[in-house]
Amino acid sequence: MCGIVGYIGPRNTLGILLNGLSTLEYRGYDSAGVSFIQDGKLELIKKKGYVKELRQAVADAGFTLEDNKTNSISAGIGHTRWATHGAPSDENSHPHMSMNGKICVVHNGIIENYAELRSFLKKKGYKFASETDTEVAAQLIEYYYAQNGDKDINAAVRRALLDIEGTYAFCILCVDEPDRLICAKKDNPIVVGVGKDENFIASDVTAMIEYTKDVIFLEDDCVLTMTKDSVEITDIHGEPVEFKVSKVEWDSNAAQKGGYAHFMLKEMFEEPKVFDATVAPRIKDNDIMLEHFDVTKEYLEGLRNINIIACGTAYHAGCVAKYLIEKFCRIPVVCGVASEFIYSDPIVDDKTLTIVISQSGETLDTRNAMKTAKELGSKTLAVVNVIGSTIAREADYVLYTAAGPEISVASTKAYTTQLGCLYLIALKFAHIMGKLDDEKYIHYQKELLAIPEKLQSILDKQKEISKFASRHFNAESTFFIGRGLDYYLSMESSLKLKEISYIHSEAYAGGELKHGTIALIEEGTLVVSPITQDDLVGKMESNIKEVATRGATVLAIIPERFSDKSFSCNAKFIIPDSDELMAPILAILPCQLFAYYMAVYKGCDVDKPRNLAKSVTVE
Ligand code: AGP
Repeated sequence: MCGIVGYIGPRNTLGILLNGLSTLEYRGYDSAGVSFIQDGKLELIKKKGYVKELRQAVADAGFTLEDNKTNSISAGIGHTRWATHGAPSDENSHPHMSMNGKICVVHNGIIENYAELRSFLKKKGYKFASETDTEVAAQLIEYYYAQNGDKDINAAVRRALLDIEGTYAFCILCVDEPDRLICAKKDNPIVVGVGKDENFIASDVTAMIEYTKDVIFLEDDCVLTMTKDSVEITDIHGEPVEFKVSKVEWDSNAAQKGGYAHFMLKEMFEEPKVFDATVAPRIKDNDIMLEHFDVTKEYLEGLRNINIIACGTAYHAGCVAKYLIEKFCRIPVVCGVASEFIYSDPIVDDKTLTIVISQSGETLDTRNAMKTAKELGSKTLAVVNVIGSTIAREADYVLYTAAGPEISVASTKAYTTQLGCLYLIALKFAHIMGKLDDEKYIHYQKELLAIPEKLQSILDKQKEISKFASRHFNAESTFFIGRGLDYYLSMESSLKLKEISYIHSEAYAGGELKHGTIALIEEGTLVVSPITQDDLVGKMESNIKEVATRGATVLAIIPERFSDKSFSCNAKFIIPDSDELMAPILAILPCQLFAYYMAVYKGCDVDKPRNLAKSVTVE
């Protein structure tokens, strides 16, 4: 979704803003712009298209971008826009300037009552240059600023916020107060980077990590006033709010490609390391430690149900967790997509534990669902990757995955580490409840600790997948079929393929295909089938035969112990043996590689697929 950057300090402001916007490109966008105050004049440059086009436009306008050159810019803001209100165009790009040219605004989120505010402002004589909801905010701030005799931009922003309904991260410049930036936040992230004689604003820390590791996560309903050497935060009524400065642990290399062709490839190659970093520190003396989450037997036995809420890939990790928790703990689990949860009249109360899964920790659908679960009395346990993110802060308990920054829109290493945390949760719960004896408990811990090496051995054979993809990347349609855990794995694999290669793809339970969908199988249809579960292998052999008979080209992903079986497939990819319950953690990697290479051979923009955003902060 939209990315915001802001800077006040002695460095080359435009260089900082444009580098920051390039770093935020991964969030997904269709246009970009900057606004800054130079020699007392408010400048605005914005364009439909990529940051590199904006960079050219800035250079063409005669401004210097070199990092080592300072300039006389007193403050600047920048934005990458993911269109919601109004098509991608130069006019609809941010920043938006108010009618008298004094105020510029960038915005992430949606102003829900924008039509009403727009007609109020039109009656007051305001004219609009775009179709966006954001321009309404710029004009409304100007309106209240003018009412106060063009004094106190902070007060004007706070007054405007009282009228605005919806979600926002705003960053605002006013030409009359050239040395400061004003920000306001509700439901969309804003991070403040604290430097020496300079301060930064961004939608996430990746855009400022090169310059500072001291950050403040702005809370909802707060207003920030920033100069080069001060940070003040108040509530919407101007009352001071206390804040804390946190240290970011990882360094700027974590957000670089490091020699890989794409972030997605780099991130898949990090899976052995980040899985280990997520799981190994939590296994000590044959026991699993879930820091900050002390669960008792009484608490778990008193639960009527467990609720898992998440979106996209995180939802698919949740499906695996449902299977494991029900199998090990015999507690009923509902795993649902977050966007449906609040409208489903869910059975949730203080006898429910809600597990929330999110890489970014900012996904609005997931946040809303978590809020509803809390209001209904449920405790919430979040499995989150981004430290200090909103979901991590708002949940009752948080378990962090140690995936590090995930830049590619297609989630890979975050998924694997989510599985790591969820396996730990399921095993720990089952052991506390006395449903898993010590021997089995220790067996599964060892199996988890052995995963990184096995993931590495899959990466070592990635050429096999690349070769298969090079022959089939022109496929128009692909089906993923599996049973049990392999069905959930198929769902995730199918999502991966469609989001980055744009090949139509569906995931089906092996046994369900014959109830209608098999009608779509014809000569050359591509079918990928993970088969990792011992008691389901016979049934899957039949399901593969059914599609092969109808002309499908089949790739089977199987553990070593099934390698002698004569599946009716055209190609096999062998993964290392493991306890069958661990297989989803291994079998997803060849499927991710498959999606990656199909997209690469098709010439797709792997890291930034069309229409998608990394962090989805609208409903
Ligand atoms: C995965 O490849 C996706 N791009 C997407 O489905 C993602 O997993 C989903 O939007 C949830 O994001 P979150 O984990 O940051 O909450």
